[in-house]
Amino acid sequence: MGTESTNLEQLVEKIKSLPRERVPVHIAIIMDGNGRWARRRGLPRPEGHRAGVAAVKRVVRFAPDVGVKILTLYAFSTENWKRPRDEVKTIMNLLRDTALGELNELVRNGVRLNVIGRFAGLPMPQRKALSYVMKKTAGGKRLLLNLALNYGGRAEIVDATKKIAEKVKSGEISPKDIDEALFEQHLYTAGIPDPELLIRTSGELRLSNYLLWQTAYTELYFTPVLWPDFDEIEFCKAILDYAGRERRFGGV
Ligand code: FPP
Repeated sequence: MGTESTNLEQLVEKIKSLPRERVPVHIAIIMDGNGRWARRRGLPRPEGHRAGVAAVKRVVRFAPDVGVKILTLYAFSTENWKRPRDEVKTIMNLLRDTALGELNELVRNGVRLNVIGRFAGLPMPQRKALSYVMKKTAGGKRLLLNLALNYGGRAEIVDATKKIAEKVKSGEISPKDIDEALFEQHLYTAGIPDPELLIRTSGELRLSNYLLWQTAYTELYFTPVLWPDFDEIEFCKAILDYAGRERRFGGV
């Protein structure tokens, strides 16, 4: 057996020996560094995104094995439309092709796909493919996979506010009914527990408009590893780092 797999097995054992509450149920990931990964290899940027998809598959397959129940991956932001047309096209094609190509494996592994973001703003072929895969995976119970697409944290808060304002206007609710719990119910992530851990790859130390409401008490983990190089071992390291932290939620 190679050292890599021995090392991974040891990390998995370590996670499995932790008290349940030390392992995050929900992990959010900012998958950064695809472009740099490609550049360092003298490859065009699309190759970085292709390698990024391979990393997505690894993490989705592996997460339930260590007790993670929800993954929320930042795949395309409301700001990413500003990228060169070809790059946007590559990412959109990868999304559709991967969702459809992985459908059987997702079903087999009990993964339920969900999209968060301004879904109506995605191109029609992507909406069709993603809707189909969401419908077909609706029964998945091992892992909830949230893909943040055409997603922005501020846009999400604005969209929630609009929905609430409409309800106030129609008389369904009154302004005094608005509290944090009601607000939460109007987010794209309504009913989904907040992530305990957020991972950002590639060494950038920012939130970049990701899950602004939901990360109020989330533990942050930054690694210099570029997203295409992120693997099961790196995922375990992030969980173990989280497991060692003291969370106080404003208490003592
Ligand atoms: C960040 O790297 C990555 C993205 C903006 C896109 C992430 C998309 C994928 C991994 C493909 C999505 C597909 C599925 C199936 C989820 P970057 O391009 O910003 O890298 P850089 O900062 O090094 O330029």
